[in-house]
Amino acid sequence: MTENSSESTRLAQLEQQANLRRSIETTISERFAPEDEGLRHALAAGEEAGLPPIQISPIQGRFLQLLAAACNARKILEIGALAGYSGIWLARSLPEGGRLITLEVNPAHAEVVRNSFAHAGVADRTEVRVGKALDLLPGLEREAPFDLVFIDADKSPYPQYLEAALRLARPGSIIVADNCIRGGRVFQPSEDEGNNGVAEYNRRIASDPRLISLLLPMDEDYTDGFAVSVVRYI
Ligand code: SAH
Ligand code: DHB
Ligand code: MG
Repeated sequence: MTENSSESTRLAQLEQQANLRRSIETTISERFAPEDEGLRHALAAGEEAGLPPIQISPIQGRFLQLLAAACNARKILEIGALAGYSGIWLARSLPEGGRLITLEVNPAHAEVVRNSFAHAGVADRTEVRVGKALDLLPGLEREAPFDLVFIDADKSPYPQYLEAALRLARPGSIIVADNCIRGGRVFQPSEDEGNNGVAEYNRRIASDPRLISLLLPMDEDYTDGFAVSVVRYI
C-alpha cells in the first residue's frame, strides 16, 4: 500500500469510529433521555434571545436526574442557569414539595429562565436568584443542607464554588460540575484562568478525603463532561 492510501484508510476508520460513537449517543438519548415540549421550548427561547447554545446534553440531563434520585434530593442548588435547560431536568427530578434554586448573573438570562420554567410547568418548585454566585452563596447557608449542587457557571471560581458547595452539603450530598475535561486541556499547564480554575477543582476533588469523585467523559464526543463527587462526611 502506498503512503497515501494507508493514510486514507486510517482516516476512513477514524471517521467510521466517530460515526459509531455518534450513533450510539443518539440511540441512548432517544431511549433514555427524550426531550419533551418544555425542554425544547427552553432551547428555542435561548436561541431566540441570542444566548449561546452551551447547555448540557440530554444524556447529561438524564444523568443529573439519576443522581438526584440516588441522593433522594429534595433541595437542589444550581450555579449558572443560562436558559433553564438543565434546571428543567433538575426540577423534574424533585418530589412533591422539593425545591430548586438556580443562581444566574445575567438578568436577561434569568428572565428567559423564569419563562422556560413556567412553560415547563416547574415554576412552583423553582427560584431564580440574580447576581454573582460568589455574592449569593453565603446567603444560602441558612437554607442548607442541599442534597445536590450543580456547578456550571464561569470556570475560574470553580474551586470557590466547591468550597461553598461543601459548606452547603450533608453527608451523602452529590456535587456535580460541568466542563471538567475540556478536551484534555485541564490536564496541561495553561495560561487560561478558566482552565486553571477547573484544573484546581479537579485536583481538590481527587484528593479531598471527604469526597469520592470521578471525571466522566460523556459530552462533546467524550472529550468533556461532568466531575461527580459524593460527600462521604463533612
Ligand atoms: N446550566 C446551563 C448552562 C449554563 S451556561 C444549562 O446546562 O442549561 C453558564 C451560565 O452561567 C450563563 O448563563 C452565565 O451568564 C452564568 N454565569 C457566568 N458567571 C456567573 C457568575 N459569576 N454567577 C452566576 N452565574 C454566572
Ligand atoms: C462554555 C460554558 C459552559 O458551561 C459550557 O458547558 C460550554 C461552554 C463557555 O463559556 O464557552
Ligand atoms: Mg457547562
